[in-house]
Amino acid sequence: MTAKEIRKSFLEFFKNKEHEFIASSSMVVKDDPTLMFINAGMNQFKDMFLGNVEVKHSRVCNSQKCLRVSGKHNDLEEVGVDTYHHTMFEMLGNWSFGDYFKKEAISWAWEFLTEVCKVEKDWLYVTVFEGADDDGLKLDEEAFDFWKEIVSEDRILMGNKKDNFWEMGASGPCGPCSEIHIDIRSAEEKAKVPGANLVNMDHPQVIEVWNLVFMEFNRLASGELEKLPAQHVDTGMGFERLAMVLQGVQSNYDSDVFTPLIDKVVELSGFKYTSQEKSETDIAIRVVSDHVRAVAFAIADGQMPSNTGAGYVIRRILRRAVRYGYSKLNISEPFIYKLVDVLGEQMGEFFPELSKQQELAKKVIKEEEQNFLRTLEKGIDKFNNYSKTVTETIDGKFAFELLDTFGFPIDLTE
Ligand code: SER
Repeated sequence: MTAKEIRKSFLEFFKNKEHEFIASSSMVVKDDPTLMFINAGMNQFKDMFLGNVEVKHSRVCNSQKCLRVSGKHNDLEEVGVDTYHHTMFEMLGNWSFGDYFKKEAISWAWEFLTEVCKVEKDWLYVTVFEGADDDGLKLDEEAFDFWKEIVSEDRILMGNKKDNFWEMGASGPCGPCSEIHIDIRSAEEKAKVPGANLVNMDHPQVIEVWNLVFMEFNRLASGELEKLPAQHVDTGMGFERLAMVLQGVQSNYDSDVFTPLIDKVVELSGFKYTSQEKSETDIAIRVVSDHVRAVAFAIADGQMPSNTGAGYVIRRILRRAVRYGYSKLNISEPFIYKLVDVLGEQMGEFFPELSKQQELAKKVIKEEEQNFLRTLEKGIDKFNNYSKTVTETIDGKFAFELLDTFGFPIDLTE
C-alpha cells in the first residue's frame, strides 16, 4: 500500500466501526497555555475527556499533524540521527468518549494490524502498565486479561510509568496505556536475540507502532490524579512507522512518505542517499527532509518563524536544517524552500491548508534561509579568525559574542 492508501484504509476501518472522521486540527496551539504545538491526536479533544464540553460523536477517528519539539514530548535531537523519530509526524487515532473502553480498543487495534494490514502476528509484542506506587496505581489487569485472549503471555510485557502511563503534559488528561511494538528484524537476527528483549530499548527495528491509552484521570497542577467523570479511549499510531512496516523497508525514510523529499534533496545537493544509520551525509539528508515538513506545515497553520515563543521553535528547526545542509551537504544557497512543492504534491490533498499556503511557505522559508546563511558564514569566519589566535580554550566573552551572532548555541565541531 502507498502511504495514502494506508491512511485511507485506517480511516475506513474505523468509519466502518461507526467512528466519525474529524479533520486534523491546526498544529499550532493558540488556546491552551500548557502547550505550544499539538503533540498528540488527543489534544483537540482535551475538553471532551475532562467533561467540559458536550460530546457530539462518541466515536471519532482522524490523522493528526503533530509536532514534538518542545515541552514534555521533545524528540528533536533524535530526528535524522535515528530513522524513526520526526519533528512533524502524523498520528492515526481512534477515540471513544465515554463509549467503548479497553476490550474494543485492544481487539480492533489487533484486527486492523493483523487482518487488514496483514502484519505477521509473531512480529508483534504488547505492553501493559505494571502500576506505580507513587500514584497509588495497580497493574492494569483488565488490559492484561484482554490481551491474553489474543496473544500468548510471552508476548505481553510489563511497562513502567515512563512508557505505559500516558500524560499529555505536566497536567491534563492521562491514563494507563498498552502499546503495540513491532519487530521487523531479519529472521536471522530474531533467532539470535528475542524481540521481547528489545522492546523499549531504542532499537530502530523493534519499535512502538501504536499506543492505546485508557484515559481515566486528570493530572492536576498539584501533581495529584483526579478521576475523570467518564472512561475514554485515545489511541495513536505512528503513520510514518506503519508505512515503513507495510512497505517492507527498514527506515521511515525509505517509505514513500519521505522518498520524494529525499530524492529532491539528492538532486539539489548532488550527494547520494544510502540509507545508512551512521552516515553523516545520510543524517543531513534525513534532517532536511524531516524539518521542511515541520516548518512548511507550521507556516501553513499560521506560525511564522520569529524570535520568540513558538515562532522561535520553528526558526530553530529551520536553522538546524540549514546548518546540516551547509556543513554536511556543502549547500550555501537557499534550497530547502524548493522542497515545499514536493511536499504539497504529496500531502496537499489530505491537508488542503498546505496547498493554500504553499507559495507563502516557500517565500518565508527562502528568506529565512538567506538570512541565516549570512549569519552562519559571518559567525564561522569570526570563529575561524579567533581560533587562529588561541591554542586551547576560548574565553567566555567570545563564546557569548558568538552565541549572540547565531542566536542560539551551535556546535562548530559537529
Ligand atoms: N495520546 C497517545 C500518544 O500520543 C495516544 O494517542 O501516544
